[in-house]
Parts: sequence; C-alpha cells; structure tokens
Amino acid sequence: MVGEIRTIWWEKNHVVIIDQRLLPHKLRYLKIRSYREMARAIKEMAIRGAPAIGVAAAMGLALAVVNAKTGSRELLMKRLREAAETIRSTRPTAVNLFWAIDRILSVAGEAQSKDDLREKVVNEALKIAEEDIEVNKKIGENGSRLINDGDKILTHCNAGALATVGYGTALGVIRTAHNQGKNILVYASETRPRLQGARLTTWELIREGIPVKLITDNMASFLMQRGEITKVIVGADRIIAKTGHVVNKIGTLTHAISAKYYNIPFIVAAPFSSIDFKHSVDEVVIEERNIREVLYIDNVRIAPKGVEAINPAFDITPPELVSYIVTEKGVYKPEELKELAH
Ligand code: MRU
Repeated sequence: MVGEIRTIWWEKNHVVIIDQRLLPHKLRYLKIRSYREMARAIKEMAIRGAPAIGVAAAMGLALAVVNAKTGSRELLMKRLREAAETIRSTRPTAVNLFWAIDRILSVAGEAQSKDDLREKVVNEALKIAEEDIEVNKKIGENGSRLINDGDKILTHCNAGALATVGYGTALGVIRTAHNQGKNILVYASETRPRLQGARLTTWELIREGIPVKLITDNMASFLMQRGEITKVIVGADRIIAKTGHVVNKIGTLTHAISAKYYNIPFIVAAPFSSIDFKHSVDEVVIEERNIREVLYIDNVRIAPKGVEAINPAFDITPPELVSYIVTEKGVYKPEELKELAH
C-alpha cells in the first residue's frame, strides 16, 4: 500500500507542489516562493485540475502577503489585490480559481491591521486546502452509492488526487467504491492534447492497485457499443447552476453524447466550489491554449509544416446528457442546481 498523494502543501514561507508536467516518469516537487511563481505554475500546468488550482491561487495570495515588505494595512491590501489580478489572468475556465481568490479577498477585507491581514489570509488558504480533502471524501461516499460491483467505468482527463489537494472527485468516487470492496475496472481515455488520462489517471490508479486500462479518446463509443462500459464519471471545471451545463476537459462532450446514445449513466463529480451560481453558459470563457500542444506530442512534431490547428481546452456538456451531479452535499439532477443558489 503506497502513501496517499498530496498535490500541494504550505511550508513556512513557501509552498510545495508536485510538478505534474513530469509525471508519470518522475515524481518531483517544486518549491514555489512567490505569487508570481505560483501564477506561472498554474499557467504552465505544473499544477492543474479545477480544485487544485483554486487552492494554488489561495496559497499564491498567502505568499504575496507573507513576502510583502510593505508598511500599512492599506498598502498590503493593495499588494494582495495586484497579486489577485495576476493569478486571475492565468486560466479562465475553472471557476474554483475565482472562487478561492474571492474568498481570500473577502477575509482580507475584514482584517484590522497588517498583521491580522497576513494571519487571516494564510489561515484561510490553509483552511481551503484542508476542506478540499474532506469535501472529496464526502463526494466519494455520496457517489459510491451509484457504483455497482462489476461496473466498468470510463473516466476522462484526470479528476483525481492530482487535480485536487488529495483523494480526487471522479477518482474519489472510484477510490471509495474500490475500498468498499466493489470490483471495478476503469477505462482511462488518454485526453489529447495534454494526455492527463494517459499520464496522470493511470499513474494514480496503478499506484493504488485499482484495475485500469488505457484507451485512446476515439475508442470509447466502440467499447460502449460492445457493452464494455457501464458508467461514465468525470469531474468539472465549472457547472452552471442556472441551467446545469457542465464545463470540463475537451472530449467530455463526445463521451457524454455516446453515453446517451447507448443509455449509459453519465455522472459528474465535483465540489460546490465548482458550481457557478453567478454566470450563464454564454458567459463562460473557454481557454484556448497554444496550438503547439496539438502539433507536437512530447516535443515530436506530428503534423506537416504550415498546417493550421486549434486548441480549445474545455467543452460544454448540456444538462440533458448528464444523469447525476455528485457533490459533497448530495447527489442532484442538473435541473435541481438552480434551487441551491444561496
Ligand atoms: O486542463 P486541466 O488539466 O486543468 O483540466 C482538468 C479537468 O478538466 C478536470 O476534469 C477538472 O478540472 C476536474 S478535476 C477534479
């Protein structure tokens, strides 16, 4: 039995993260010493996954106030706001990033002095991190009720411990069901272009002895047709409460359409911090990443010079394709989310 994966943690005046760009070949840790380094780590996907980048944003802001050599409470607040703007501009789609930044700014706003501000911001960042693991375990418990002994489950991208502080959302459900003694086989779709399924999901599951088979993204519907997939579970970068649309890694929509066609439950597992109670689906910004990610695999060019490419990093699955949304507070139908607005 190997130790639990912890993706990010705070150490006196710096933060440590797993550098996910190197997995599965190397398990290396990166020391992050400033909010600018944290912004770079998020943008370049050394740390990735919606809940994990929320926690990274919060810890980046904690670094900003710890490092600032500034005099007054007001100047420290100004510094914090600047850091918040830098971190906000790293990745546009996962709502957890903005949720965590707003949560930190809100506690900072209540601080009476600069020392109080530092303490409040650091404590809130640590709290966000600890809550994440608890929340994922509850998601695991709630979601495991939907899993049967013998299920063969397709998952896309990585919604595991690496996408969170620990335990994971979609993989948290799978972990819990596996620990309950249910026999489960996971199909991990590779998730071009960044290959989070091939590199990260398989790495996590193999470490824990959960049976997994890697498939390319285009194999899923054929397996569904042959009856070899009984459920699909994915995470989410943003769920629109008003309508129940699910924004997640590019390729999720294709799996959802196939699952609907073959009458296979399509389950989304995500914390409340991934639910967007403010915006509508038309307001979601889908991250467009460098086309180099499409033109190359592992630095080897796979397409001819001169070809054009596009690289949207996420897609949007409409609510009619989603069977259940599993959260730490319970399991919902997509149309029930609008009633939960607080
Ligand atoms: O681009 P990434 O790797 O940050 O995208 C991650 C995903 O799309 C995950 O499925 C999502 O963030 C949920 S993680 C619990």
